Amino acid sequence: MHDFSFKRGKLYCENISVASLVKKHGSPLYIYSHATLTRNFGLLDNALSPVDHTLHFAVKASSNLGVLRTLANAGSGFDIVSGGELQRVIAAGGDSTKCVFAGVGKTEEDIELALKKGIYAFSAESEPELVRINKIARRLKKKAPIAVRVNPNVDAKTHAKITTGTYDNKFGIAFEEIEGVYERAARLKNLYLRGIQMHIGSQLTDVGPFEKAVRKVAPLAKRLTEKHGIEFFSLGGGVGIVYEPALASGDAKWWCSTKRKTLLTPARYAAKLMPLLKPLGLRILIEPGRFIAGNAGILVTRVEYVKQTGVKNFVIVDAAMNDLARPSLYDSYHEIVPLTQKPGDHLKKNQVSSDVVGPICESSDYFCKNRMLPKVGESDFLALLSAGAYGFVMASNYNARPYPAEVLVKGSRAEIVRKRQPVKQLWASETVPKWLK
Ligand code: LLP
Repeated sequence: MHDFSFKRGKLYCENISVASLVKKHGSPLYIYSHATLTRNFGLLDNALSPVDHTLHFAVKASSNLGVLRTLANAGSGFDIVSGGELQRVIAAGGDSTKCVFAGVGKTEEDIELALKKGIYAFSAESEPELVRINKIARRLKKKAPIAVRVNPNVDAKTHAKITTGTYDNKFGIAFEEIEGVYERAARLKNLYLRGIQMHIGSQLTDVGPFEKAVRKVAPLAKRLTEKHGIEFFSLGGGVGIVYEPALASGDAKWWCSTKRKTLLTPARYAAKLMPLLKPLGLRILIEPGRFIAGNAGILVTRVEYVKQTGVKNFVIVDAAMNDLARPSLYDSYHEIVPLTQKPGDHLKKNQVSSDVVGPICESSDYFCKNRMLPKVGESDFLALLSAGAYGFVMASNYNARPYPAEVLVKGSRAEIVRKRQPVKQLWASETVPKWLK
């Protein structure tokens, strides 16, 4: 469910026409819906209500200050993976004491910052990291709150590049070794063992792997509670979303269906997991990114040219893989719709098999291949849906392309939450050595 829908043939974000936003702010343009962000947060929050719980939005999914403030206002804590993300949370008005800090390569600077800002817990991913955190905490005369990340060796059955909970992955500490690690960590004087954490992967569309992992880790969490007095169990993130519309044949409104066929709902997730978790009596944390932000954002792009080669119909747009990397990195699907829906657009006879591609000089610069789309021409606009998570945050300046602008919509209000990057900023921190005449 999201808040992008067609009204009288025009695409709207909540109560604002998307065309009016690109007219004002230019293209390419990311647009986020406040209503979708807060609704998705509420759905998860509600599903976990049978247990003491907290939600920690994964900042890596969407880190714009406007998005972070929206979620902070909704009561969210945050899952961070760098000192930079911690500073973003603080800049957005988020609470550093509600942050959990994951990542296999935490630097000394990042650990020191996190300790000074009083984060809720580190999700430590190795023994050398525990030793490092202990050393820095001793220097700062603090006790560092720790959860060790357990790698339960459960296949999340998702894309290989976003699977994190098997022994092929660099994350966490092997299930069989974890109790020994807690024993040794308990002897480090400046650590305080507060919880246990796991995260088996992203974009899971089946509750099965979550259930398998929780069944495996819950008894361990119980033992750790008895031995070390831990107070929480974090399940990580990973709840998937539906990217592809349900193509109901003969349905004139097949595209941009606000109600999509959902595979893994918060209710289904909770129905399976709550009975396993409740008896533990621990606080349950989750770290959702994609579920909250994925369907809450779109990327709008202008058609620059249509190039027919006899073999292909290339729709060349002004956004590229540097603005939205997911299709080129993971072959991911993003629904693509024109901003204006004409009668009969949904009929096959009015559609053409298209490759929507960007201007970057790489063949991996595409948003879809051989997809049936309504015919579009120069200066038409297209929206790439479900681009709210891992969209802008993964953008780069490749090909000297400035970052696009971002807009946050709430009801009938829209605000630019990130200005389009000025071109000169691309080389503002560079210098030409004096000795290069
Ligand atoms: N917690 C930890 C420790 C994580 O590593 C992640 C995501 C999350 C939570 C949030 O997971 P989510 O709820 O969003 O699935 N760039 C990829 C996704 C990478 C996910 C990395 N870790 C993509 O575009 O699909």
